[in-house]
Amino acid sequence: MGNDSRALAVMPSELATKERQRDPYPWFREMRAEGPVRYDETRGTYDVFHYDEVVEMTVEYERFGKEGTSFLDGAWMSRDPPIHTELRSMAENYFRSSYVQENYGPAVEKHVEALVDDAVARDGSFDFVEEVAKPLPILVIAEILGVPGEKMDMFRDWSTSLIGAPSEPTEEAKQAVQERMMAAIDSLYDFFHDAIERREETPKDDLITKFVQAEKEYDRIERENTVACCGMLLVAGNVTTTAYMTSALWTFIEEDTIPELQGETIPLGDALEEVLRYRTPVMPQKRITQRDTELGGVEIPEGELVAGWLSSANRDEDAFERPGQFDPTQTYHEDPIPFGKGIHYCLGAPLANLEAETLFDELLDRIEGASLATDAIEPYFSPEIYGAAELPVTLQT
Ligand code: HEM
Repeated sequence: MGNDSRALAVMPSELATKERQRDPYPWFREMRAEGPVRYDETRGTYDVFHYDEVVEMTVEYERFGKEGTSFLDGAWMSRDPPIHTELRSMAENYFRSSYVQENYGPAVEKHVEALVDDAVARDGSFDFVEEVAKPLPILVIAEILGVPGEKMDMFRDWSTSLIGAPSEPTEEAKQAVQERMMAAIDSLYDFFHDAIERREETPKDDLITKFVQAEKEYDRIERENTVACCGMLLVAGNVTTTAYMTSALWTFIEEDTIPELQGETIPLGDALEEVLRYRTPVMPQKRITQRDTELGGVEIPEGELVAGWLSSANRDEDAFERPGQFDPTQTYHEDPIPFGKGIHYCLGAPLANLEAETLFDELLDRIEGASLATDAIEPYFSPEIYGAAELPVTLQT
């Protein structure tokens, strides 16, 4: 397990207020106007704000590596080729779009129906995050992996601890967050070591069993990697997909898109894609320079931490027309990059999209409309994730 403190995302001081967390976009715009890349001495990080340079650092994996950027360092998310290639291919077939729809569709529908049944039966307002957007991804991935959904609270604690961040750039604050992360990783690893050993004795029809069988076919993959990959899959898609679905409802209400979605004048898929651009859930992605290099006219020495702000790239005026507007009917000449790009492109994108599409298909079918039950959205306070921590809503049924 790695303990490189650079695996910890430190909040830029400019984003460390509630207002900026709720609306970081004016700051990103200011930074884009200053240039594509800046060096932040306090965090020892190069920040990248322009679309072209964020794409460049993402696809040029030989110059910008991922090793050392995450505490889950046995998993492929934080590795470079060649082991990244082997680890990813162990799971890739189980996350392709057609496989996901066919094999996980029924589980997604089952959980969506139960959650929407409860939601529409409620009188008055309720928190959409707590009641719908948080449980859905955890219940689904738990079922895919073959671990008990009743342990949802524990899985959720691990997921949130792993994307924790110090609120200030002091050593004490970093230490405290790091200790919480390490404790979460220890529990996560113990849990999956145990589950994997049990699958060796008694195979089941689940992803853990498939990984245990695949492990033997690859030269570089050790048991520690399999454990880390299971752990990564359990936590990688939770907070992210929760933020995605929460931002979708928030935006559809705010922009009054629900009638058009219900009347099918705007396709749901287009609207969800636009949510991912407009309110990108994963704000930065991290890399470490593998040699002295140059990006956007800035010289960056080897071994430096680089944060590519997807949230800024997806609102770059040079890449998108009217980037500050939510407009599902726009056609863009560049592809938004909410799921990254290149060899680390999000493995779970088809699953996250299936969950969101199934949820909103069902929900919009069952309601007349929806309204926000607050004037002040509480932001998810994190340098990594953009979204609402709570979304009190009232459904009209
Ligand atoms: C809306 C929801 C999601 C968003 C916005 C998101 C975003 C991302 C992004 C931006 C990356 C690239 C990181 C980088 O290049 O540094 C990534 C990678 C990854 N994501 Fe997701 N993700 C989501 C859901 C999921 C789900 C549901 C899963 C799994 C069940 C998942 C598993 C992964 C994995 C395994 C990687 C690493 C891929 C690699 O390194 O080869 N994600 N995700």
